Amino acid sequence: MNIFITSLLFLIPVFFILSRTIKSSKRIPPGSLGMPVIGQSLSFLRAMRANTAEKWLQERIRKYGPVSKLSLFGKPTVFIYGQTANKFLLSSNNSTLVNQQAESSRMILGERNLLELHGADHKRVREALVSFLKPESLKQYVGKMDEEIRKHLEMYWQGKQEVTVLPVMKILTFNMICSLLFGLEEGTRREKFLACFKEMMKGIMAVPINLPFTRYNRSLRQSARVQDMVKELVHERRVQLEQKAWLPDMTLHLLTITFIIRQLANEPAVCEAVLQEQQEIAKSKNSGETLTWADLAKMKYTWRVAMETLRMFPPVFGSFRKGLTDTEYNGYLIPKGWQIFWAIPMTHMDSSIFPEPSKFNPSRFENQASVPPYSFIPFGGGPRMCPGYEFARTEILIAIHYLVTRYKWKLCADNSFSWDPMPEPSQGLPIKVWPRELS
Ligand code: HEM
Repeated sequence: MNIFITSLLFLIPVFFILSRTIKSSKRIPPGSLGMPVIGQSLSFLRAMRANTAEKWLQERIRKYGPVSKLSLFGKPTVFIYGQTANKFLLSSNNSTLVNQQAESSRMILGERNLLELHGADHKRVREALVSFLKPESLKQYVGKMDEEIRKHLEMYWQGKQEVTVLPVMKILTFNMICSLLFGLEEGTRREKFLACFKEMMKGIMAVPINLPFTRYNRSLRQSARVQDMVKELVHERRVQLEQKAWLPDMTLHLLTITFIIRQLANEPAVCEAVLQEQQEIAKSKNSGETLTWADLAKMKYTWRVAMETLRMFPPVFGSFRKGLTDTEYNGYLIPKGWQIFWAIPMTHMDSSIFPEPSKFNPSRFENQASVPPYSFIPFGGGPRMCPGYEFARTEILIAIHYLVTRYKWKLCADNSFSWDPMPEPSQGLPIKVWPRELS
């Protein structure tokens, strides 16, 4: 009897522990973590570069369902998708899910960058940035942005028969950052900053193996240089925005401008409607007069074209969160410390949300209230929604105004593009250019 009771006392807790383990391991999403460190990163990066990442993810969904586990950039990861997943992730509070970038981007941008901060630290740094980027502050910069864009077009577009759009847009955005934020005018120092910055960006999404001659290693070295340069500039110019984390984001709208240029060449009717709207505004200005905040408010159709471009070609493919505790989603357990990966194109190209998703149709955004919440998310959403939205909108609208009113263009390469890690059109989008007279 004694033996029976002793055995029972021993077996009950063992059974309890085992049943919990079996139960919780059952609830971890299906899928495989693949090889240590590398996991599925190389296959995913290959799909990004071949512009088949959406297909790659669809294949996972077909195989494992809407929630699956994998390993990306050195960390166990759960992939979730769809409108509910976006809401769960973007509206989550700081005590359950926090922002976490891929290991490579964290090391390159620094562990104390805004994207990584949470709680009071995140609030403090975000508030400083938002106060610089809010519409009231931006209104003061419209004239300066207008001047930079016109100067840029005179240097890189005027008198040219052919322009490769992506590299010249990179120069424009970079010059804008240097001029608006750091008061750093043209010259060798600006060029050195640009070269380091470009090299730093190449390793943002990479397998975090720091060996000589890898992309990641080169990026880390350039990141240290960019950090020193930003510190120097902050010190010299007494600017407040010490973080370098938002520098990569500041270049995202150049991709949107590049893709708008591409779409306007592909869609003559859309181009004509944008031209009409912009010519009306141009006719109301005296020669040399800069655009104003009020002019930007009139560019309603042009902004719908930009939104449709952001839907089909969002500059950010996806991002990561990390669970601070064990988290449940859709009946599955996401263990504490695992990454959660969400991908923006998955709702942007969902035909139940956006009918005929591959068709470029700016009129989808005529009634914005008809777009379901958490389905159009090029700027994210919730407490970490992109604070650069208005800045991006301002620069995109000014650039498109001068581009369409001064030039006509035609594509010289095919329409393909790849993600590396941001979307880049084939050959940098070479175009043939002609001057346009105001009609
Ligand atoms: C077309 C242009 C842009 C797009 C598509 C874009 C997209 C995004 C997205 C999707 C996020 C959220 C990431 C997440 O939740 O994990 C984000 C965050 C952020 N963006 Fe942008 N962005 C753009 C322009 C800008 C600009 C111009 C700036 C700065 C001037 C900027 C600064 C930031 C910062 C600092 C964050 C982090 C916010 C936080 O964690 O609280 N972005 N952006």
